[in-house]
Amino acid sequence: MIETKPTTQTATGREDNVLVRVVNLKKYFPITRGIIFQRQVGAVKAVDDISFDIKRGETLGLVGESGCGKSTTGRTILQLYRPTAGAVYFQGENLVELKGEALRRKRREMQMIFQDPYASLNPRMTVGNIIGEPLEIHGLANGKELHERVQELLRVVGLNPYFANRYPHEFSGGQRQRIGVARALASNPSFIVADEPISALDVSIQAQVINLLEDLQEQFGLTYLFIAHDLSVVRHISDRVAVMYLGKIVEIATRNELYENPRHPYTQALLSAVPVPDPAVEAKRQRILLQGDLPSPANPPKGCHFNTRCPVAFDICYEVDPELREVTPGHWCACHRVA
Ligand SMILES: Nc1ncnc2c1ncn2[C@@H]1O[C@H](COP(=O)(O)OP(=O)(O)O)[C@@H](O)[C@H]1O
Ligand SMILES: [Mg+2]
Repeated sequence: MIETKPTTQTATGREDNVLVRVVNLKKYFPITRGIIFQRQVGAVKAVDDISFDIKRGETLGLVGESGCGKSTTGRTILQLYRPTAGAVYFQGENLVELKGEALRRKRREMQMIFQDPYASLNPRMTVGNIIGEPLEIHGLANGKELHERVQELLRVVGLNPYFANRYPHEFSGGQRQRIGVARALASNPSFIVADEPISALDVSIQAQVINLLEDLQEQFGLTYLFIAHDLSVVRHISDRVAVMYLGKIVEIATRNELYENPRHPYTQALLSAVPVPDPAVEAKRQRILLQGDLPSPANPPKGCHFNTRCPVAFDICYEVDPELREVTPGHWCACHRVA
């Protein structure tokens, strides 16, 4: 259970339902200058004070354009990056305070699926070794047992168990992503960060991988943080969706609420880019085009980070960073325009 009270209110579910609680999390990457005497001249504020919960068994979609801090959020939650500030409670324990063996033991229960199934699998290892490696690292199986477990994992992700002796280059993109999923499942995790797991795949096989992830969630009671750069991808799989902009969470709500009643101007703009299946509605769809590029996270604008591109920004937006507030039950939004 949660032992330490979070310092601020989070976009929360019921306490006993929470698997992952992120509290005031920050990850800044230092910008240094000088070759021999390096000094820090600034920081990339990749994740800049975010708080939210992920409930047990749910899929939380995390959406925002490229460079807004989604991958850094996922990696910092898993402690692949150590945060600059904040806390990450997993099953009530603050991962930020864990190190060494204690952290290693927790890592078993949290895994990551990567975007690029071509780059993330070691080309010199057989598929069997790739999938079995986490079992060996954590001392969970060896010998015959390891071999059997690898075959079982291949079966679970819909691959032929005889593939264990082959190498990654012998497989298609979709099959490689299944190998990545099998590896992630090897240590029996309860929480998986899927970082744009289908973005690099052919459209024709994207749905298969999504279906596989859904089946596995049901079968093993998994909780997902599912990262994507647009709202169409996460619609099907997410129970709730969080929208990120320049290091901040700007809106978070249940899936239907977010798609039917988006409140933040950035979410509205993202949604306006999603095609609607109904041709009559699609014909009338108005795209909100955002002006300009994403500002640099090394130098975010004063006040609301979105103010340089916001169609409805006014005085206060240039002065005060809006807080993420619960605007209706379960629907959180960070915008001065939203009452
Ligand atoms: N290891 C790193 N060192 C320095 N800057 C980084 C590092 N990883 C990410 N960044 C920067 O942090 C910002 C957020 O990156 P990222 O989390 O990868 O965004 P996203 O996944 O949403 O595309 C970007 O400006 C990126 O250049
Ligand atoms: Mg990314």
